[in-house]
Amino acid sequence: MKVIETIQEMTHYTETAKSSGQRIGFVPTMGFLHAGHQQLIETAAEENDIVVVSIFVNPLQFAPGEDYETYPRDLSADKRAAKAAGGSVIFAPSADEMYPRSMSVRVLPAQGTDVLCGRSRPGHFDGVLTVVQKLFHIIDPDTAYFGTKDAQQLALVENMVHDLNSRVRIGRVPTVREADGLAKSSRNENLTIEERKEAPELYQALYTASAQAGVGISAEMIEAAACEHLTTHTRGSVDYVELLTYPELTKDIAPGKTVILAAALKFRHARLIDNLIFTWP
Ligand code: PAJ
Repeated sequence: MKVIETIQEMTHYTETAKSSGQRIGFVPTMGFLHAGHQQLIETAAEENDIVVVSIFVNPLQFAPGEDYETYPRDLSADKRAAKAAGGSVIFAPSADEMYPRSMSVRVLPAQGTDVLCGRSRPGHFDGVLTVVQKLFHIIDPDTAYFGTKDAQQLALVENMVHDLNSRVRIGRVPTVREADGLAKSSRNENLTIEERKEAPELYQALYTASAQAGVGISAEMIEAAACEHLTTHTRGSVDYVELLTYPELTKDIAPGKTVILAAALKFRHARLIDNLIFTWP
């Protein structure tokens, strides 16, 4: 598996491929690839001639005290995982290559960050959108693939592409889970054995609470049910449980609308997020 480390070489690679009429699929990641990332790569490989997988732990989206330094990294394993899923090339720039000087501009979302992870991680999505926009400029893909596991990120990227008239199409890929329901995540590695046993309760809480949606049941009742499930079945602390419209991320819930029930649960060394997207009855 070819690994490109410089922006110049990456741009040259995709320009050459595009000039021969090849369609470019792009999967942005922070590496430590698992079956969730591989599902994105497989989808991209089905729909494109070339699949670029970026591996870059983006310092801009981590606040001081978050896990930037300890975020798991393993490029040799990632090469095998990307190749097995149908990736064509890995783009793995250094932080200096991506940010050779302090940034004079950033992409700041004007909406959709006062809820969910945006509230507990101020500035996080500025860092995400800035790096995603940079990667779009470097790679110039036809389609970029994002997981609904990070539903707020996906919604904000879709809004950015729409509002800035970007040419890239965004492909949505459903969440890949372990057999017990836990969403695959690089951060699952940081759970203790006991926490790992409780972690599937995050999905269970969302699933059981969302099944109660019906006539006479309010969004607040569903949120409270999920929260109650998490506090009784896990030792984690609930960061948030929220029910919002999707992808608008507002409280404007009405019958027939697509909604998201999302939660974040903090264990000692891992903060897990998950969500379910469904139609409000
Ligand atoms: P990362 O957490 O590595 O995730 C890369 C992509 O994989 C995201 O689109 C995420 O939603 C998707 N993904 C993660 N777990 C998944 C699962 N279990 N099922 C399906 N898809 C899953 O998200 C980021 O990196 C970064 O913020 C990034 C977009 C690369 C910008 O730095």
